[in-house]
Amino acid sequence: MPNIDIDAVKAQIDAEIEKINSAPALEDFRIKYLGRKGIVAQLTASIPNLIPHERQAFGQKVNTLKNRIASLVEEKQKTLVEPERQAGAGGVDMGMPGIAQDLGRLHPLTQVIDEICAIFMRMGFSIVEGPEIETEHNNFTGLNIPLEHPSRDVFDTFYLKLASERVSQLTGSTGKLANRQTGKLLLRSHTSPVQIRVMQSRKPPLAVVVPGRVYRPDAVDASHSFMFHQIEGFMVDKNIAFSDLKGVLTILAKAVFGKEIKMRFRPHFFPFTEPSAEVDISCIICKGKGCSVCGRKGWLEILGSGMIHPNVFKNVGYGPKKYTGFAFGMGVERIAMLKYGINDIRLFFENDMRFLKQF
Ligand code: PHE
Repeated sequence: MPNIDIDAVKAQIDAEIEKINSAPALEDFRIKYLGRKGIVAQLTASIPNLIPHERQAFGQKVNTLKNRIASLVEEKQKTLVEPERQAGAGGVDMGMPGIAQDLGRLHPLTQVIDEICAIFMRMGFSIVEGPEIETEHNNFTGLNIPLEHPSRDVFDTFYLKLASERVSQLTGSTGKLANRQTGKLLLRSHTSPVQIRVMQSRKPPLAVVVPGRVYRPDAVDASHSFMFHQIEGFMVDKNIAFSDLKGVLTILAKAVFGKEIKMRFRPHFFPFTEPSAEVDISCIICKGKGCSVCGRKGWLEILGSGMIHPNVFKNVGYGPKKYTGFAFGMGVERIAMLKYGINDIRLFFENDMRFLKQF
């Protein structure tokens, strides 16, 4: 006879399995009974030592015991696995680090445009957009840009080849008059024509910013692109002064480039503003000492600005004695390049993920 009592084992397993409440404990139980050196294996190994006529009955008993233990283990496993499944949806180990998802993000230019627009919205400006296809009138004539001005040249502006009927369709003006009033159609070379659009359709007070794409037939290199972005801003009311322009642009520069930034207004000329000024900020690379980025000057030009020319007010039907206003226009790519230290404008348009992922 083997020294293990089969009936005692039978009684024991029910009590033992009852107490098990974890997968490792169940595995210990399985090894104890069904393992290679477990109790069932020991019982089986003892069969040849039995007297022959006892062997069959004993063998059957061992077999029944083995099946019973196996089904007990299986049952128990279900009750243990189920709660884990529920917690981790499909037996997922909640303690494991997850698989990182690649999140989409806004293009760096969109981020800079949004940031600048938000700064102006906090100051009470509203955002307006205009079409990229413009009339010669809105892009030049209305803005007091004379017929002989070089920016009107085909080397500086993309003109569209369209029949005059199509031009009148697009501009809403009729017949032969269309061309005389609106001129040819073109891809706008700056966002300033939106000044004309807004002033023609609204009365002061106005505080507006205009983000958008502009086009110029420049040869592409590290600092030129035939398409780029500008943000135009203007304010019109009674008694708007140059100091208002200075105040607004100072808030902008400090918000975008930090409180330490210095600004200067340098006299300049634009046909649609008088007086006009270009605005420089202290070089953000060398802090004004002079380096290769600022061409040893210590200053970086960031925008053009001025007081809106009385002729522009006349062209939109505003009384030039009644109202004054300021306007400014900045290149978004240039500001983004300075802010992030980007040295080639083409990077914005190539959509190389290695570049875009850094923003
Ligand atoms: N439109 C000018 C440019 O593209 C910038 C500007 C806007 C200057 C408004 C003065 C006032 O260079």
